[in-house]
Amino acid sequence: MSTATQASEDDGPVEFDPFGTTFFEDPSGIYRRLRDEAPVYWNPHYGFWALSRWEDVAAAHKDVVGFSSSYGTDLHFLSDPGSIEYTMILYMDPPEHDRMRSLVSRVFTPRAVARLEPMVRGAIARFAEEIGDAETFDLIQQWAAPFPVEIISEMLGIPPGDRQQIRHWIDIMLHREEGSIHPSEEAEAAGLAAGLYFYELVQDHRSHPADDMLTRLIDAEVEREDGTVTRLDDAEIAGFLSLLAGAGAETVTKLVGNAAVLFGRHPDQWRLLLDRPELVSGAVEEILRYLPPAQYNGRFLLEDRTLHGITIPAGQPVLLLTGSATRDERQFDDPDRFDITRPPGLALGFGYGIHSCLGAALARMESRIALEELGRRWPSFQVVESGLRRVTMSNVAGYANVPVVAR
Ligand code: HEM
Repeated sequence: MSTATQASEDDGPVEFDPFGTTFFEDPSGIYRRLRDEAPVYWNPHYGFWALSRWEDVAAAHKDVVGFSSSYGTDLHFLSDPGSIEYTMILYMDPPEHDRMRSLVSRVFTPRAVARLEPMVRGAIARFAEEIGDAETFDLIQQWAAPFPVEIISEMLGIPPGDRQQIRHWIDIMLHREEGSIHPSEEAEAAGLAAGLYFYELVQDHRSHPADDMLTRLIDAEVEREDGTVTRLDDAEIAGFLSLLAGAGAETVTKLVGNAAVLFGRHPDQWRLLLDRPELVSGAVEEILRYLPPAQYNGRFLLEDRTLHGITIPAGQPVLLLTGSATRDERQFDDPDRFDITRPPGLALGFGYGIHSCLGAALARMESRIALEELGRRWPSFQVVESGLRRVTMSNVAGYANVPVVAR
């Protein structure tokens, strides 16, 4: 049995199990206790530390000398240092990280992303049209899951017929059984299948260049640590593809699903958004704060760090609990109030510092357009709470099913 489900939320010393039912269902009570009672928390069962206060999480994101990403950012890799076999910017420290990130960052600036709006709008509308006038539908399975992968795939150059298969592989790859830190055999197999697919796609694009990001990555040159300038190899390009496709496919789905559930539970806020559509960008920020799809980011500590009188020794995994930090009463007034008029602040839900979300402008645009579409097509939607089903994934939180009655 997993550790967090053994103790009730209020009894005994606080326990946080990122693979337990309490975490997947609603960790807000555990998070509050962590912030108050154990801001530097040690979990002996899995062997990790966790920081839960806003100030500590934000500072750790900026402290790239102490908090390394090169051992992975989820516990599966962090618990077995050196086990990462592939390369991607998420798992790099400076200076390599900065050089590699600059190869793709131009494509994701707010200005570059703004030019994609017609394509993004088209993808979001297309799946909504397939739902048509149905009285009930699954907002995730029929809409919020299929559109983000179409959008990022269009940018990357992934053929239309393969896009949804990639999403299914990524879903399986991130899935964790309760109490299990490691992916199942099925999850490992899905990861391998996706990796192989991307590798073959790179090969194919080398002989058939197109006007897409993949071809630009094939042509790109990067300065290496020894000063030489070379092209990227197949594995490096496949790493970019799997990170961008994975990050682009999973998280927006979770944010849009969380939005529907939150607005279903806070009809006054939905009414407000319908009445004042100009609040939509603030609404996206508030959903990201209230229920961030990326609940935590893992790091590997390279130097001792002392916080609140406790020293975390070098050589240990540390989880930066975003989902707790964004509800920290030391940072926000009335943090458990869902309020789309809240003044904007640092969006820790997209991370912070050198690894902060590369796709943030795209994610914001997709989420904004999705909310606009939801308001236009299904303004009176009702969430069927009894049918809600959550994903049980590593690092990511949200719903697998959000059944709604359209009117
Ligand atoms: C609501 C949607 C999204 C959320 C909540 C989100 C969240 C995050 C977070 C928290 C990080 C930091 C990870 C860390 O510090 O270890 C991150 C990094 C990243 N995100 Fe997103 N993301 C979203 C959408 C996207 C999209 C649409 C893309 C598409 C390309 C994307 C691409 C990336 C990449 C490439 C990184 C790694 C950046 C680096 O290591 O330098 N994300 N994201």
